[in-house]
Amino acid sequence: MSFPTQIETIAGHAVADLAEQFGTPTFVYDAAKIVERINDLAAFDVTRYAQKAASNLALLDLVRRHGVLVDSVSAFEIRRALAAGYQAGPDEPPQIVYTADIFDREALDLVVEHNIPVNCGSPDMITQLGERLGERTSARGGTPNNSPRGITLRINPGFGHGHSQKTNTGGEQSKHGIWHEQLEECVALATRNHLTITGLHMHIGSGTDLEHLSQVCGAMEKAAHVVGPTLTTISAGGGLPTPYREGEERVDIPAYFDLWDATRNRLATAFGNPISLEIEPGRYLAAESGSLIAEIRAIKQMGKNLYYLLDAGFNDLARPILYGSYHPMAVSPASDPGRPRPAQEVIVGGPLCESGDIFTQEEGGFVCSRPLPKASVGDYLVIGCTGAYSSVMGSNYNSKPLAAEVLLQDGAPHLIRKRQTFEEMICGEVIPKAEYL
Ligand code: LLP
Repeated sequence: MSFPTQIETIAGHAVADLAEQFGTPTFVYDAAKIVERINDLAAFDVTRYAQKAASNLALLDLVRRHGVLVDSVSAFEIRRALAAGYQAGPDEPPQIVYTADIFDREALDLVVEHNIPVNCGSPDMITQLGERLGERTSARGGTPNNSPRGITLRINPGFGHGHSQKTNTGGEQSKHGIWHEQLEECVALATRNHLTITGLHMHIGSGTDLEHLSQVCGAMEKAAHVVGPTLTTISAGGGLPTPYREGEERVDIPAYFDLWDATRNRLATAFGNPISLEIEPGRYLAAESGSLIAEIRAIKQMGKNLYYLLDAGFNDLARPILYGSYHPMAVSPASDPGRPRPAQEVIVGGPLCESGDIFTQEEGGFVCSRPLPKASVGDYLVIGCTGAYSSVMGSNYNSKPLAAEVLLQDGAPHLIRKRQTFEEMICGEVIPKAEYL
């Protein structure tokens, strides 16, 4: 991939026009890129979008209209899926699945009320779901349903890998999934709770590589034989990496599919019934589509270091401070746009009152510089590959409003989330009436 460091447009729209129309900081998503990435995965029977990566209703609607189903990890993610037009219910394949390691009370209420299939990441979830469904049956005065409700299990295969230790979701250091050695017990636990295991799922980490992802096939096959022929689906989870740096290429999806397809075919032959193959990407679908447009508000020389300070901070994009993540950046001059600017080494930071508010840093908080074109206050800085885990991880730290979001679709920019107002930010806050006054 190539990421130029000076740009004038995003998907044919002038950066300066977008900034003027919607203000800064603003996330901009190119719908065409999301659709391209969806099409890359067409060989899988089901692509289930991990909406935690970017869950704006307009993005959910976009992927839904392109045949992508959805994963929800919280009660409100279920409600987002419903609000974006997904239907609840156990149809095969289910449009919405709830995947988590716990049920909070609200999530348990919702999955039962809407009959949403559950991908259990802990033995306690199996018991809690079974008990709740049992209570419902007896409250209705009925005998337990003769056909046990299907559940899927998220298995931790004992190994994992991610772009950071914080995104590795396998092995003993991770809280995620049902430990692979407890699978047999969980099959029995499910049976006792009048549940049957219809699917297995493994997600070993986010931003990993094909080498690690490929090892999951073997672990899945082994686990599937423990469950046996009640299985009708296997899910490869998410984790597909995406290029963030100049020169990085996209992964070989056909090769990855072939490995999983072979696994699925062996299982289908062994069990004598078809097995549906799911993939659950978040980053792969969303990351490349997004750009964060910010304005350079100050340029400071601090000793030997030159800083570009933006109106966007880690309240808008937390990945660099959390994981030392690298994002491509480009200067977009506000005036005289076509003229190339010479490069200089700069550190790029935000407005927050915290030293860690730096976009050019490595894991561990080590500040680094990178060559970017010479810029002036008032020019724009575009941070690339910010479609995934960016806006959704935004916060109100320093009482900064959540940024606006814009979808570039069919040649026009559409505002899909307006910038948060002060009134919206404080609307849930209450000053108690003082008794002593
Ligand atoms: N399925 C499950 C069960 C997951 O936990 C995740 C991500 C995905 C799918 C999607 O993974 P992806 O395809 O996006 O790699 N905030 C971090 C990433 C956290 C990922 C959490 N789980 C980051 O900014 O890199």
